[in-house]
Amino acid sequence: MSVPHFLSVLLATFVISSISSSATISSSKAQTFNIKPESFFNPKLPPRTLSSNKKFEGSSNLVDLRYHMGPVLSSSPIKIYLIWYGRWSAPQQLLIKDFILSISSLAEPSPSVADWWRTVSLYTDQTGANVSKSLFIAGEYSDTAYSHGNQLTRLSIQQVIATAVKSAPLPVDHRNGIYLILTSHDVTVQDFCRAVCGFHYFTFPSMVGYTLPYAWIGNSAKQCPEVCAYPFAVPGYMGGGGPGALKSPNDDVGIDGMISVIAHELAELTTNPLVNAWYAGEDPTAPTEIGDLCEGLYGTGGGGGYIGQVMRDRKGRTFNMNGRRGRRFLVQWVWSPVLKACVGPNALD
Ligand SMILES: *[C@@H]1O[C@H](CO)[C@@H](O)[C@H](O)[C@H]1NC(C)=O
Repeated sequence: MSVPHFLSVLLATFVISSISSSATISSSKAQTFNIKPESFFNPKLPPRTLSSNKKFEGSSNLVDLRYHMGPVLSSSPIKIYLIWYGRWSAPQQLLIKDFILSISSLAEPSPSVADWWRTVSLYTDQTGANVSKSLFIAGEYSDTAYSHGNQLTRLSIQQVIATAVKSAPLPVDHRNGIYLILTSHDVTVQDFCRAVCGFHYFTFPSMVGYTLPYAWIGNSAKQCPEVCAYPFAVPGYMGGGGPGALKSPNDDVGIDGMISVIAHELAELTTNPLVNAWYAGEDPTAPTEIGDLCEGLYGTGGGGGYIGQVMRDRKGRTFNMNGRRGRRFLVQWVWSPVLKACVGPNALD
């Protein structure tokens, strides 16, 4: 799951010893590709979350990420079903879909989204099968009528999925399928902005009829960009004196912020789909997963209070990886089971 910045500041300040106590159960046009677009820079911004990486960075022996014998998403390809809840614009949908499709798009210039996913695909199950490198969008459903209202709870999110699969616009795919529920900026969700920016879990047979791995991510643009679209918006208390917010790579703070959270949740959903595979900590109701361990880290030299070295294009927009159709994204790093460290494709060493 993805813990917002301000909560982690509180956690780091007051309860640094129990960082995983939060409650998971676990432009219409593509940018044109510039020839010499980028320069490296280190924005000297604190990471979005101080909790996990603060504690673990440079001390991998403290991280007890272990395999708990459950499945990972190894069957290929992984089929993603998108549920657009609320009102979405076509350019926003296109941007999110471009990110998701970039994961399996091997031809993009390095550092690429596919390079980033390579770390996720290093995770295996007990048969030695790796997380699949191939993902595609197998179906989409738009719930423009807000069928379960504009205030969702963790349970009513499952009802949204149930509505989508029962009225049969989306198939029930419990072999290769994962479901992503994306809520528009005017939808509030239980714990959104206060405890989480996104989470993943699986549906209950009693609610949906099946056990389906899913993740929810909300557009924080209107409700709490400084919490969930950080570092494209920064909290007021950080505004004075220090550097301000970074320019987002696709000029849409809410969606660019969502993309790193989507990435975080996809990495965790595929390596821990039933919350019994890869996580650290003893408590399966509050697992620390491969995205949590690296939250707020986007480049080399990150940690110790900084997000790390990233890149910026000619318009000053920040990114750290390339995707399809010339898109750029700023996505957090993930924990490598091989290097036992946070890793990303833009690493300089
Ligand atoms: C599968 O994971 C193992 C262990 O992390 C790794 O050594 C191997 O290279 C991976 N295979 C593929 C095809 O990614």
